[in-house]
Amino acid sequence: MTASNDTEVAGSLAREVARRRTFAIISHPDAGKTTLTEKLLLYGGAVREAGAVRAQKASRHATSDWLELEKQRGISVSSSVMHFETAGYRVNILDTPGHKDFSEDTYRTLVAADSAVMLIDAAKGVEVQTRKLFEVCRMRRIPIFTFVNKMDRLGRDPFELMSEIEEVLGIDAVPVNWPVGQGSDFLGVYDRIRERLLSFSGGHHGTRRVDQAEVKGAVDSPAVREALGIRADEIGEALELLDGAGAAFDNELMLSGDQTPMFFGSALTNFGVSPFLDRFLELAPSPGARESDAGPIDPIGNGFSGFVFKIQANMDPDHRDRVAFLRVCSGRFVKDASAIHVRTEKKLRLSKSTLVQARDRESLEEAYPGDVVGLFDPGIFRIGDTVSEAGSFSFAGIPTFPPEMFGRVEVAEVMRRKSLEKGLDQLAQEGAVQLFFEQGAGSSAPIIGAMGQLQFDVLQHRMESEYKVKLRLTLLPHKVARWPVSGFDVDDFRFSDAVKVVEDREGRPVLLLKSPWYLERIAEKHPDLVLSDAPDRVSARD
Ligand code: G4P
Repeated sequence: MTASNDTEVAGSLAREVARRRTFAIISHPDAGKTTLTEKLLLYGGAVREAGAVRAQKASRHATSDWLELEKQRGISVSSSVMHFETAGYRVNILDTPGHKDFSEDTYRTLVAADSAVMLIDAAKGVEVQTRKLFEVCRMRRIPIFTFVNKMDRLGRDPFELMSEIEEVLGIDAVPVNWPVGQGSDFLGVYDRIRERLLSFSGGHHGTRRVDQAEVKGAVDSPAVREALGIRADEIGEALELLDGAGAAFDNELMLSGDQTPMFFGSALTNFGVSPFLDRFLELAPSPGARESDAGPIDPIGNGFSGFVFKIQANMDPDHRDRVAFLRVCSGRFVKDASAIHVRTEKKLRLSKSTLVQARDRESLEEAYPGDVVGLFDPGIFRIGDTVSEAGSFSFAGIPTFPPEMFGRVEVAEVMRRKSLEKGLDQLAQEGAVQLFFEQGAGSSAPIIGAMGQLQFDVLQHRMESEYKVKLRLTLLPHKVARWPVSGFDVDDFRFSDAVKVVEDREGRPVLLLKSPWYLERIAEKHPDLVLSDAPDRVSARD
């Protein structure tokens, strides 16, 4: 390849990276995530009519027994990826399930995102699930954009919502737009950065239609005051208060995750959705360097690399298949290219690769940093695995979360034992559950760790529909799992009733405790024992 060719390739890679926006929406159930996602897809032209996201959900139900559970629960159990092109940007939305009992899947998806949109119901403010997901975003210090939804209903005072975000989440909230009215009087937003009033009328659910009028000028300019009418004084005072409180937008603070730009709108009526999307695309970061054990990997100066953030088996009930979702981190992914599966040092030909758009599969020719590639998995991938043609480094930072519920599983029919083992192994590799084994107990029933009851329900349902195994699950009284890092002697716990010593899939010892209270007791009794709540920080036993 000539030098000018090289420059050309690097230039086109840089352009592709710069126009990518990969993000996840975090919210509590019912805040309007499905509605907003649908509207974003509508604006991006990815779907023609609203209802498509829901319809897709519905058709999924028809094709998979497992997803029957989703329907019954009215929640989205599996994450998917949607993408669209708009205004020169390539947008990838990583869908995160929003149920409070959900598994680590949600959290891992956030690791694959470059920014997050925090959706808040104007009447409810910051809710439990939003807070948990926010904490994960915070850990990674990714930019978080706040969209206060349902402004077409009477909700809480915008100032109150701002302080709640600041107090509960510990992040500075800076309104980019300020709402004009609320409920049936929600007539527009004032854009503080561009100094303009946007007034809305005629929004229609199910379409992207909204009539939007723009009046440029400072909030105290005659044109804007006239457009605001009887609200002119009220909005003027609110903005003065915001300016006085030092709530100025700062790009650096936004990028470091210390400040969240706030937008107000109504996904249902479309009011404020397009101003939000425009600003978000402009401000949200494109894929940047990712940490690895060989230092940060720049998306541009390196060959293709990525990591697996999610594995899903049996997406298509007619074909027993597993798909590993790989987030591209550097270089250009080309179908049929060769790369190294770093953990096993095996060479892979990325041939049967597919690009995943929601549930559909498009065959994939190429992908760039920020994109998600679905790879057929013959059983070699694990969550967190790095695939690279760029070198033998491993990407860091797929968090593993300690389970909070444990149950022992047995099969109703002894003949199905093999299927039980196979099924559990697959689901554990997917990260759907964590598996533990009694030490030295040979073939005794495995213990399942989950973050909530829903995970157990999903397990039972999937084992029955995909592996034809009826499970008997007995809940254990334990609530906490800890991995010893140093100073551990199994004999210390041999006769303990409150602490059970088990092994994880990698053969590492794990302590299961009946309650967090025992953590203090253990610390007092065994001062040399160092425990970790994350297995990633403990090396696997040879
Ligand atoms: P989720 O994915 O976060 O769980 O929320 P989803 O979009 O399904 O929205 C939950 C409910 O809130 C839906 O009503 C939806 O129509 C409504 N909603 C979403 N955005 C807005 C908004 O901006 N304003 C108002 N007023 N409502 C909004 P539902 O009655 O549960 O379902 P549906 O019959 O409307 O589908």
